[in-house]
Amino acid sequence: MIPVKARNFATSQQLLERARRSLAGGVSSPFRASFPVPLYFADGRGAHLTDADGNEYIDYVLAWGPMILGYRHPALVEAMRRQSEKPYCLGEEHELEIAVAEKIQQLVPCAERVAFCSSGSEAVQLALRLARAYTRRNLILKFEGHYHGWMDSTLVSHHAERSALGPIERPNTVLHSAGQVPNTVENVVVAPWNRLDILDRIFSERRAEIAALIMEPVQCNSGCLMPGDGYLAAVRDLCRRHGTLLIFDEVITGFRMGVSGAQGFYGVIPDLATFGKAVAGGLPLSVVAGSSGILEQMFGGGVAFGGTFNGNPISLGAAQATLNELSHDDGAALKQANRLGRKLTDGLAVRAKQEGISLKVTGFGAALSLHFTKRNELRDYRDTLDDDRALLERVLLAALEEGLHLVPDGRMYVSAAHTESDIDQTLAAFERVFARGQ
Ligand SMILES: Cc1ncc(COP(=O)(O)O)c(C=O)c1O
Repeated sequence: MIPVKARNFATSQQLLERARRSLAGGVSSPFRASFPVPLYFADGRGAHLTDADGNEYIDYVLAWGPMILGYRHPALVEAMRRQSEKPYCLGEEHELEIAVAEKIQQLVPCAERVAFCSSGSEAVQLALRLARAYTRRNLILKFEGHYHGWMDSTLVSHHAERSALGPIERPNTVLHSAGQVPNTVENVVVAPWNRLDILDRIFSERRAEIAALIMEPVQCNSGCLMPGDGYLAAVRDLCRRHGTLLIFDEVITGFRMGVSGAQGFYGVIPDLATFGKAVAGGLPLSVVAGSSGILEQMFGGGVAFGGTFNGNPISLGAAQATLNELSHDDGAALKQANRLGRKLTDGLAVRAKQEGISLKVTGFGAALSLHFTKRNELRDYRDTLDDDRALLERVLLAALEEGLHLVPDGRMYVSAAHTESDIDQTLAAFERVFARGQ
């Protein structure tokens, strides 16, 4: 058992108790209700955060992904300040929308046209509606363990219990939430990821029914698992042959793997892609990108779409600053984040091995995940179910005591603000955690 020193979280505890009297659950998202108490933060700069009790952390949560440039980045602060002195909500057109759309067009291969909304969940809904209208089909294919937001239509087989999954050749479509419309399961077919043979069979059975296949091109929401060699290209081909649109949900991979997303990294171009999180460096903005024939259906093609905050000037100001910073010098900022992330990945694996701990670290650098598992290979969601979750929790708690702030599922995001010294300190801290044993 890894012993836990007592850091003081008394102020966070008091704030939680106060919050519970007004705010449902005391937190703004149930994902944040993590141990030992949900932390209340007071300040942050670069890759560092300070909580309400004055505890300092190297942050690997990045607000669950958006803070790709770190906290209080001067270019973002300045862009937001500039916009705040103008009408900061218009509900009308303004030139910044065009400038950011043009920038995304330059960077993202599939972005013949873009549309703006505010959250990743919304962007996914728009992409699915566009795909259904375009193909005049209903069924959506998604993968076990992939997350596409909290809306009824996609929140299935996200983190289902092993007993609910059904046979791998023919997985069940598992509802995730009480109150979710039950007939969601009639509209979504589920497949295991990284298994082309099974996907091929599902396609041949459901032939002309599947409007769109949606996937995270890297399975970030269930353990940062990478696609097998040639898998994405083969799925691209399969979709084309069956008249199904391919949607890459790049809400995590976008503006993190590189400035052109996973599609640029792998050279596999989807019909539609969704972006969120990092695109505006911490401000609420999401994007649907794709071919003009598909997106222009919103204007004359009968596809309904709306959103009071679509194209919000402060979000777009932040997006412009973020995209300029990330694309500057041939994408140097993200190259650095990914390089440091790979150093962390390799360093963690070596240190765990030295202590005889079975740890597999997966991911692409700027997003990585810890798996305490004896498996040599992790290919899909089902493989991650063998992880020792109790050990992960103990390690996360000990890491928190060392001043490391990680996502509660063992994910770590590395930003452009992390430094070589942050990574060295993190590895030294994990060395102490691992040395204390299991
Ligand atoms: C891949 C992916 N798609 C969609 C979403 C939903 O985005 P949001 O939380 O902004 O609604 C998320 C959120 O984590 C995500 O990781």
